[in-house]
Amino acid sequence: AKAPLRVAITGAAGQIGYSLLFRIANGDMLGKDQPVILQLLEVADEKPQKALKGVMMELEDCAFPLLAGVSAHSDPMTAFKDADVALLVGSRPRGPGMERKDLLEANAQIFTVQGKALDAVASRNVKVLVVGNPANTNAYIAMKSAPSLPRKNFTAMLRLDHNRAVSQIAIKLGKPVASIDKMFVWGNHSTTMYPDYRFATADGVSVRDAIHDEDWNNDVFLPTVGKRGAAIIEARGLSSAASAANAAVNHVRDWLLGTNGKWTTMGIPADGSYGIHEDIIFGFPVTTENGEYKVVEGLDMDTFSKEHIDLSLKELIEERESIKHLLS
Ligand code: NAI
Repeated sequence: AKAPLRVAITGAAGQIGYSLLFRIANGDMLGKDQPVILQLLEVADEKPQKALKGVMMELEDCAFPLLAGVSAHSDPMTAFKDADVALLVGSRPRGPGMERKDLLEANAQIFTVQGKALDAVASRNVKVLVVGNPANTNAYIAMKSAPSLPRKNFTAMLRLDHNRAVSQIAIKLGKPVASIDKMFVWGNHSTTMYPDYRFATADGVSVRDAIHDEDWNNDVFLPTVGKRGAAIIEARGLSSAASAANAAVNHVRDWLLGTNGKWTTMGIPADGSYGIHEDIIFGFPVTTENGEYKVVEGLDMDTFSKEHIDLSLKELIEERESIKHLLS
């Protein structure tokens, strides 16, 4: 039997955690033959720690055959010990009257501390996915705070945007989701992200040709995907949680187990591809194999796409500049 992998999850008693832990313990993320140990981090306050105990009781009650251990933590230095995968979900939500800048700064504190803890105690090849918003900049801060770990191991989640885009195309064409490939999302996980359907195929046929309606992209598709988070909040009274957890499971699963040539989206450190040389975490089209991702190169640009990508890039640079003074 395989040795268990250690998965650290922050914000484990939160909404997303409540879906995520059970999916991972069920083998959805690492495979049905891979035992897993969950190392759960929550803030030290009594209420979340108590809620975490409740979630752990439910994990026990599921009697998951792959679940080889669960522990509760309030200190990232113990939660991240020897972690093979770290899912950084917990973050500071925007409070009443809080400016974007305050939000960035409050989160910068959290992700500096957590990045340093990963640097100190996690597996030297820990794969990190940041879900907590602002996800790209939080991932950037964690990466900068963990200089002894490979930069490429720090990623941010754009997979929910990706999955939303794939589903909208499948619905539009009346085709199964599994028939769609070569769809991806550029940029920041924010309203500036840009789902690029120009290369997408359904059963190998160009989606753009099949839809044959250039207005649909701008008038329907982009706003539907872009405003989906707000639409969920409006309908449910709570933000996306099960779908966010599912996207995290998809992101890590694809990263570790490969996409078999299929394209997906990951927020990754920009490496100069598509002229993006800035030190930022940006959504790119990737394929994955043997635990490594690779940017899909050589895609054409057009003015419309370039404008959208630049907007997201500009936003990320601003976010980076506004927290720069907090990085030592
Ligand atoms: P939630 O508020 O239900 O749960 C967050 C949990 O994190 C809380 O239990 C809180 O106590 C904990 N937490 C806060 N700071 C922490 C810290 N320093 N260490 C450990 N735990 C900490 O929120 P929910 O709905 O689970 O969402 C979590 C985050 O994910 C939010 O920032 C949300 O904006 C983000 N998100 C990102 C998405 C993406 O596509 N990248 C999609 C959906 C949500």
